[in-house]
Amino acid sequence: MTKLGGFRKKNIAVFISGTGSNFKNLHKFSLKKNTRFKINLLVCNNKKAKGLIHAKKFKIKTTVINYQNKNKAEKKILYSLKKNKIELICLAGFMKILSKNFIKIFNRKIINIHPSLLPKYKGLNTHEKVIKNNDKFSGCTVHYVNSKLDTGKIILQKKVKVLKNDNPEKLAKRVLKQEHFLYPKALNKVLINL
Ligand code: GRF
Repeated sequence: MTKLGGFRKKNIAVFISGTGSNFKNLHKFSLKKNTRFKINLLVCNNKKAKGLIHAKKFKIKTTVINYQNKNKAEKKILYSLKKNKIELICLAGFMKILSKNFIKIFNRKIINIHPSLLPKYKGLNTHEKVIKNNDKFSGCTVHYVNSKLDTGKIILQKKVKVLKNDNPEKLAKRVLKQEHFLYPKALNKVLINL
């Protein structure tokens, strides 16, 4: 148990499928004195995910799950979450949809980061949609996870201006930069009340 300045750092698990830049960034923040969380576990459905290298380097526990059978996969994840006393889950580029039952077990204790200004552009290819529709702004959203994709209560959002010569790649890069500011901030906000 880590107790700092009157509060105990809560145990969180981060779920990823790929690069894991948000995971790395959350980890960096977790080491700061005034953040309210520590990363006890990384859950990943892809054994080739880049994010696993960072976890290994910093000796963060990992659970790598083969998702061929969703029911079995979720059972293993739940076991691992319990074993590591996880209090809150952060989805960060996790490309699997959690079952209703799983979400119920962790009711209001799963949050996600999404690269658009929800409720606009749920699902994939958000930057392509923004450019195609000539939107003036895009951005990112941290929200609670419920059983409908990208519809849970919004915790924090950050706007990003769409520039004249933007393409989806350029925009994605600038949005991701803002994600790295937004996610730790939103997480701390959630943890104040947990
Ligand atoms: C981010 O854009 C996030 O909003 C979305 O998936 C991407 C993950 O990027 N859910 P990374 O793996 O954290 O770099």
